[in-house]
Amino acid sequence: MKITVNNLSETLDLGRKIGMLAKPGDIYCLDGDIGSGKTHLTKGIAEGLGIKENITSPTFTIVNEYHSGRLKLYHFDVYRVNDPDEIYAIGFDEYIFSDGITVIEWAEYIKELIPEDYVHIIIKKSESGNDDLREITITFQGSKYDYLKELEI
Ligand SMILES: Nc1ncnc2c1ncn2[C@@H]1O[C@H](COP(=O)(O)OP(=O)(O)OP(=O)(O)O)[C@@H](O)[C@H]1O
Ligand SMILES: [Mg+2]
Repeated sequence: MKITVNNLSETLDLGRKIGMLAKPGDIYCLDGDIGSGKTHLTKGIAEGLGIKENITSPTFTIVNEYHSGRLKLYHFDVYRVNDPDEIYAIGFDEYIFSDGITVIEWAEYIKELIPEDYVHIIIKKSESGNDDLREITITFQGSKYDYLKELEI
C-alpha cells in the first residue's frame, strides 16, 4: 500500500494508527534516506502504544526499550552497525521473537537477520521540492499482518 503524507503531523498520525493496531511480536522494518522521517514515524507508533516517554534515536546504543505502553517497544537503529555479530551480542533474537513490538531503522542493513514475517515501511522524500511531503510504501510479509490493512482507509 502507498500512503502520501503531506507533513510531519500526518506521519505522526500514521504512526499512531500503527501503534494502536499493533499486535505482540510485530516487526516493523523502516527504510528511507537520512531525515526521511523514520524516527518520527516511530514516535507516532510509540504514542499509539500509549508510551509516555520521549522517543530518541538509538543510533549510538543500537536499541532503546520502552515499557510504559500497552506493549513493549524495542526501537533499533542499525545505521552504525558494521557487523551482524554486534546485533547478536545485544540479544537481537530475544527482542524480535518476543511479545513486544520491534521497530528497526535502516533494516536493509541487516536484511539477513530479519525473520520471514515482517512489515516493510519505506519512506521516500518528495522530489517535487515540497520538503514536507513523503511517500510511504508499506508491504506485509506474512499473512499475520492482515489486521494492518485498515491503515489504508
Ligand atoms: N512528512 C514528514 N514526515 C516526517 N518528517 C518530516 C516530514 N516533513 C518534514 N519532516 C522533517 O524531517 C525530519 C525527519 O527526521 P527523522 O529523524 O524522523 O528522520 P530519520 O529518517 O529517522 O533520519 P535518520 O536516518 O538520520 O535516522 C524532521 O526534521 C521532521 O521535522
Ligand atoms: Mg532516525
